[in-house]
Amino acid sequence: MKIFLDTASIAEIKKGLEYGIVDGVTTNPSLVAKEGKEFIPLVREITSLVPGPVSVEVTARTPEEMIAQAERYAAIAANVVIKVPINLEGLQVVKALSVRGIRTNVTLVFSPSQALLAAKAGASYVSPFVGRIDDVSGDGMALVEDIAAIFGNYAIATEIIVASVRHPLHFVQAARIGADVATIPFATLVQLLNHPLTTSGMERFLKDWEKVKNPGR
Ligand code: E4P
Repeated sequence: MKIFLDTASIAEIKKGLEYGIVDGVTTNPSLVAKEGKEFIPLVREITSLVPGPVSVEVTARTPEEMIAQAERYAAIAANVVIKVPINLEGLQVVKALSVRGIRTNVTLVFSPSQALLAAKAGASYVSPFVGRIDDVSGDGMALVEDIAAIFGNYAIATEIIVASVRHPLHFVQAARIGADVATIPFATLVQLLNHPLTTSGMERFLKDWEKVKNPGR
């Protein structure tokens, strides 16, 4: 499973890349707003740091405006993937961009039918938001299972990005299902490594190592 970082923070992206496990980045307008930086230079910097795909969301309302915005963003770097919301206008945009060879990530996916239509329109990725479904007492991972089964039925090449990941269990469940990608916040990435037995095991080894360095103590 590929790991994308769900952030627009340059510091977090640089750290994640140093760990050698980050395959791409997803941003959204809320994540970008948190950074308080000018948008285009920020996207340029992220795309220059990250070798893999970087999702950048369109915010215009009409298909024509969204396509124009997408073309401007896609011109920033070859690894830009255009994030498009799932609705009728979004489908039109996905189709138009796929014809132009511009990759898309269809976002705010909350049902299997939305995912299937996005794929049919030519989406490169679909992003089911598992955490937001769990927030309203739904089962976010059941949606991922449904989408994976449907895409499997028809050998659909559109990749599934498990998004709105809130904790390590989401990550593990995504991998069990065989999702193509999990996009995770930096804090969750760190949590993935935490285990009390690793921490206490390290402490014991280091304490015993002191005895090797100072025999007789
Ligand atoms: C995905 O691409 C979105 O940026 C993100 O995962 C949304 O997560 P949230 O529900 O925690 O805002």
